[in-house]
Amino acid sequence: MLSLTIPRAALRSAAVPRQFAAASVRNASTKSIYEAVGAIVPEKREQLAKLKSDYASTKLGEVNVGHVLGGMRGLKCMLWEGSVLDSESGITFHGKSIPDTQKVLPTAADVGHKGKEMLPESMLWLLLTAKVPTADEAKALSSELNQRGTLPDYLNKIIDTFPKDLHPMTQFSAAVTALNMNSKFAAAYSQGVKKTEYWQSTLEDSIDLIAKLPAIASRIYYNVFGLGDGVQKIDPNMDLIENFTTQIGFGDSEGLIDYLRLYIAIHGDHEGGNVSAHTAHLVGSSLADPYLAYGAALNGLAGPLHGLANQEVLGWSLELQKAVGESPSDDQIVDYLWSTLKSGRVVPGYGHAVLRQPDPRFTALYGFCESRPELKNSSIVQLVKRLSKVAPPVLKEHGKTKNPFPNVDAASGCVLYSYGLDQFKFYTVIFGISRAIGALPQLVFDRMLGLPIERPKSISMDALFAELKK
Ligand SMILES: CC(C)(COP(=O)(O)OP(=O)(O)OC[C@H]1O[C@@H](n2cnc3c(N)ncnc32)[C@H](O)[C@@H]1OP(=O)(O)O)[C@@H](O)C(=O)NCCC(=O)NCCS
Repeated sequence: MLSLTIPRAALRSAAVPRQFAAASVRNASTKSIYEAVGAIVPEKREQLAKLKSDYASTKLGEVNVGHVLGGMRGLKCMLWEGSVLDSESGITFHGKSIPDTQKVLPTAADVGHKGKEMLPESMLWLLLTAKVPTADEAKALSSELNQRGTLPDYLNKIIDTFPKDLHPMTQFSAAVTALNMNSKFAAAYSQGVKKTEYWQSTLEDSIDLIAKLPAIASRIYYNVFGLGDGVQKIDPNMDLIENFTTQIGFGDSEGLIDYLRLYIAIHGDHEGGNVSAHTAHLVGSSLADPYLAYGAALNGLAGPLHGLANQEVLGWSLELQKAVGESPSDDQIVDYLWSTLKSGRVVPGYGHAVLRQPDPRFTALYGFCESRPELKNSSIVQLVKRLSKVAPPVLKEHGKTKNPFPNVDAASGCVLYSYGLDQFKFYTVIFGISRAIGALPQLVFDRMLGLPIERPKSISMDALFAELKK
């Protein structure tokens, strides 16, 4: 064990204030999410103090010109607590792989609901506390989210003014940003709350925002597509996803409800360097409140190389079916892949900036498809499966992408489509509901640890040449 010399200041204010101890629906022995996060503050501050005092000048690698020109790939230069992405083995959440979380996190059935998949509430708890919740704790968090899930009137009015043909992601980020009118963090900051206590109001805002995202999404869905429940009723006996799925008109689809539980749980966090997570962290580092930070993250998620890819995959797959038939042969798929590549386009759903193996999130969604009889006859799901075998050799032969394997988007939208949720433009909004359960916990860690404003150094090409001549 390393010996610890911890500055006393680092441990200050770890106690949980009284309002944070007031749990909503739980047994006396069950911690509320606020108490559970409060309990890890001293340990996290100890770790940070140790790293700062003993290792601040230890090298983690070198920065070369390739990093500067190549989007900073591989540079270890950001703290991110919730998850780590290994290029070979994929994502782990506080050390737990996706199969691990599928084994240990409380499922819908564990809290007395229909369904086998883990609850996003359980994943949120894990990401915030580094601990596996009990079923009671997951249920209490679910109730807490239900209680906070209703939108203020002013926000509904704002959403209702958006033109129908404004992309749902633009509406989503604008609505999330506008929620900052009621930010507890912004209010606490303006009242001069101590820096060591910033994490508490950040946590409150984060829980509040995560609770409201499904209602914002379903209001947009109703306005844009005329589908679902425009009044966003929240049933206290349902979990977050069952309520959301009901709001968008699929409350009787057990398969879709369970799929969305899995989808939202595993899309939540993918370490800190991806565009949406990094954006939330960057904007949050200016002490912008969680609504502003996450609204910005959603704008990054809306890009086609990031979250919009699931919409792109489905569009591409349907084009393929239109061109060569619903159940194409492998040779026809290969020809179509080459025509895409030769036209200079990317094959959506394939490749990854970090992973060099098939994405374990894809594997989990594939496993879900295998387990559901109702998906067996879906031609689009069959195509997803065929593509995952046929596309990697083609991409290898093409020789450009460093990772020829499927990423999560290769399956995610296609399964939604098979369940009848066929409004492509809504797919990234669903991803946006999920990414909050990873990006916002990190904002809580950022404030718990008092991380500084992010400010890397940029350099011009002239300055680079000047450095190289030295
Ligand atoms: C995810 C992605 C953006 C990662 O980008 P990256 O880190 O730059 O990937 P690479 O280093 O492997 O890229 C090297 C080259 O291969 C190309 N490439 C990467 N993935 C490709 C794909 N799926 N199809 C065709 N070409 C691809 C890149 O465009 C790049 O070409 P360039 O040198 O002409 O610019 C990229 O793989 C991609 O565009 N995939 C398709 C979109 C997608 O599925 N996004 C969701 C990601 S979860």
